[in-house]
Amino acid sequence: MGKAKTTEEIRRIAKAGQIVAACHREIERRLKPGTTTADIDRFVEGYIQQRQGRAAQKGYKGYPYATCACVNDVACHGFPDEKPLQAGDLVTIDLVVDYKGWLADSAWSYAVGKADPRGTYLLRTAKQALYHGIAAAKSGHTIGDIGHAMASFVQRSGCQIIPGFVGHGIGRALHEPPQVPPSGTAGTGAKLMEGMVLTIEPIVTLGKPEVWIAPDGWTVRTRDGMRTAQFEHTVAIGKEGARILTRLPKRAAR
Ligand code: MF3
Ligand code: CO
Repeated sequence: MGKAKTTEEIRRIAKAGQIVAACHREIERRLKPGTTTADIDRFVEGYIQQRQGRAAQKGYKGYPYATCACVNDVACHGFPDEKPLQAGDLVTIDLVVDYKGWLADSAWSYAVGKADPRGTYLLRTAKQALYHGIAAAKSGHTIGDIGHAMASFVQRSGCQIIPGFVGHGIGRALHEPPQVPPSGTAGTGAKLMEGMVLTIEPIVTLGKPEVWIAPDGWTVRTRDGMRTAQFEHTVAIGKEGARILTRLPKRAAR
C-alpha cells in the first residue's frame, strides 16, 4: 500500500523533478549523430551535481551509471557506452535525481536525427500510452485502471507493452509501494489516494513482448530485435487528477 505524501513532501519531490526535467531538455539538445550515450551519461551526472543533486541510479542495487541508455532493441537498463549514435536510432534515457533526500524519476525516448515512419509511430504510441495512464491516475480510481488505460490503448495501436517492468511509488526511496504495472484490469488493485506519488512508465515495442537479459546482468533486449520506446513521468495524485512533477513549466527560462 502506498502512503499519501504531504504537500510539503510533494513540493520537495517536485524540486528533484525539475532537475530531472531540465536534464531531459539538455539531453534532447545533445543527442545528434555521433554523440555517445557515455557522453550523455557524463553530462547528466555533472549537471545534476552542479545543481546540488545526486544521480540516484548510480550505485542503486549496483547499477554502475547515472543513466540507463537504451538504443533500439534495448528495452531498459542499458549501459551507456562509447558507440556513436547513428541517424535514425531510437534512444531512451532514464534518470533519477535525489535532491536533498527526495527523488524523482523520468525516462524519455528520442530519435537521433529523423526517425523512419515506424520509429516515429512507436515514439508517438509510447508517449500517448503514458498520457493515457496519467489520465487514469485520479483519486478514487485504482492501480488497475492505470494499466488498463495504457494496455488497451497500446493494443488498439497494434504495438505491445513489455510486461514485467513496473512503475512504482517514489519519494525518499526510488522504489516504494505500490507497484504500477503497465497493464491491468479496470477497477482492480489498490485505490489511488490524493497525495500518492507514483511513476508511470510503460515500455512499448513494435514487435513481440519477449525479452532477454544480456550477460552484463542488466541490459534487457527484445528477443525479436524489434525496437522499443519508453516515456516515464513521476506524478502526484490530486483531486482533479495527476500533476506531473517531472515536466518543466511552459515558460521555463532557457
Ligand atoms: N529509473 C528506473 C525505474 O524506473 C530504475 C532503473 S534501475 C537502476 O525504476 F538500477 F538503473 F536504477
Ligand atoms: Co521508474
